[in-house]
Amino acid sequence: MSIPRSRFAALSGWLAILVSLLAPPGAAQGSTAVDRGEYLVRAANCVSCHTAPGGPVFAGGVPFPTQFGTIYSTNITPDEATGIGSWSYEQFEAALRRGVRPNGEHLYPTFPYTSFTKISDEDVRALYDYFMSLKPVHAPARANEMRFPFGQRRLLGVWKALFFDEGRFVRDPARSEEWNRGAYLVEALAHCGACHSPRNLLGAEKTSAPYTGGALYEWDEERGAVRRGAPNLTSSPHGLKAWSEDDLAEYLKRGVGARARLMGTMNEVVLNSTRHLSDADTRAMAVYLKSLPPNGDARRRPGKKVMELGAKQYDIHCGTCHLPSGLGSEDTAPPLAGSAFAQSPDPSSLIDLVINGPRLPVQAPSAEWQRPWQSMTPFGQKLSDEQAAALLTFVRNSWGNAAGVVDPQDIARLRE
Ligand code: HEC
Ligand code: HEC
Ligand code: HEC
Repeated sequence: MSIPRSRFAALSGWLAILVSLLAPPGAAQGSTAVDRGEYLVRAANCVSCHTAPGGPVFAGGVPFPTQFGTIYSTNITPDEATGIGSWSYEQFEAALRRGVRPNGEHLYPTFPYTSFTKISDEDVRALYDYFMSLKPVHAPARANEMRFPFGQRRLLGVWKALFFDEGRFVRDPARSEEWNRGAYLVEALAHCGACHSPRNLLGAEKTSAPYTGGALYEWDEERGAVRRGAPNLTSSPHGLKAWSEDDLAEYLKRGVGARARLMGTMNEVVLNSTRHLSDADTRAMAVYLKSLPPNGDARRRPGKKVMELGAKQYDIHCGTCHLPSGLGSEDTAPPLAGSAFAQSPDPSSLIDLVINGPRLPVQAPSAEWQRPWQSMTPFGQKLSDEQAAALLTFVRNSWGNAAGVVDPQDIARLRE
């Protein structure tokens, strides 16, 4: 059996800049079919996954490291020989909504057709028209590097029978227009759950616990496959309970707000996708996400000694900016009390932030992003594995946070 648990690759800076030439951020949904298609391409972030660092836009070749091997995205420009130029609308639709190629082969769900299956007919049509209007680029696909037996696409048929439900987005008539728009954007196009939902051993999103936090690998040119932990987006106290709708809408639109400042894996999501959406659409997404009922596992509670060691390290290294209360301030740093990032079920991104410092966006996502906040520096040299583990355990279990323990081995693994 196959299937990627994780998917996504880091992209280098020129991409965000190049892509932003397509349309100014905040451009409303356009009037022509191609404009509409472009807006939808943004919302679905096709560009981050289908554009390799240094390569032409949409020509593919982005590596997705998974526990089953490395999958490469393909050329989706309308080149007849190496892209999708000879595809009919029906063939495009089958790939996007069912994960099937024109020759009948199954596609890996690293390509999030499990979300895209919910896209409306009208929107799939607009996407098709958009891609067919592009300039063809000749770029043959890179062969995937799968471990045996995961290279056999036939197995994906079994996987689909077990885990894939085809079907359009269904409106909830009991909810507002805005909620339904937000649900459609989050579930069908923006595929937030692809990273923020936990997956089972065969890489399928767990339907019992959507949006309660996930883990993935991203490709970094220098470091190779880097593990990330995506936080809980439900209204759990480990998740977005402390975030208001405004906080969330601002973060998606401008990459900064009272609760967080853009960095890491979300750089590509905000730079290439959400900041280009209208204010009404980022707000609708926030309204939908804030309506998700609290959900998420209880975690292992730390011992007293570890908490004391952690408190000491916090005072020395973190308290000046995040304050002893963990509340941060408008002038220094975001709050850690109630932070979804700090309490992520998989602490990989938190450990990486503190050991190696933040991966800042290659370009400011908005004028507002330029806060007086001075970005974090790496603490890897200043902390032993034991000190770092205690410090992060303290951050995850203070001020009302309750997110389990970080062990020294977790730190050591990341330093390798
Ligand atoms: C999370 C990353 C990701 C996103 C987002 C994404 N793709 Fe893909 N896509 C992939 C990967 C990886 C493959 C290759 C899958 C495989 O080899 O089985 C792929 C394959 C495809 C294919 C099949 C191509 C072929 O030659 O068989 C099409 C068509 C496609 N994507 C179109 C799109 C469009 C249109 C969008 C935006 C609406 C999009 N993709 C968004 C990762 C992504
Ligand atoms: C490619 C994977 C991926 C996708 C897609 C994704 N996220 Fe994230 N998100 C992450 C990771 C990983 C983190 C933790 C930050 C890090 O690793 O740098 C995160 C962090 C966040 C945070 C907390 C930010 C902070 O600093 O406190 C919010 C809020 C969030 N994501 C919302 C969303 C929403 C809404 C969507 C859909 C529009 C989305 N994410 C799509 C991977 C993803
Ligand atoms: C110089 C001030 C400063 C210091 C010192 C500092 N931070 Fe930060 N921290 C920030 C800023 C600013 C951000 C927002 C991201 C960025 O721009 O770096 C941040 C972000 C964070 C986040 C993400 C919060 C969220 O919800 O998005 C965590 C967790 C965090 N810091 C933990 C720590 C820990 C643990 C320490 C001590 C080892 C520390 N910080 C030291 C300024 C600081």
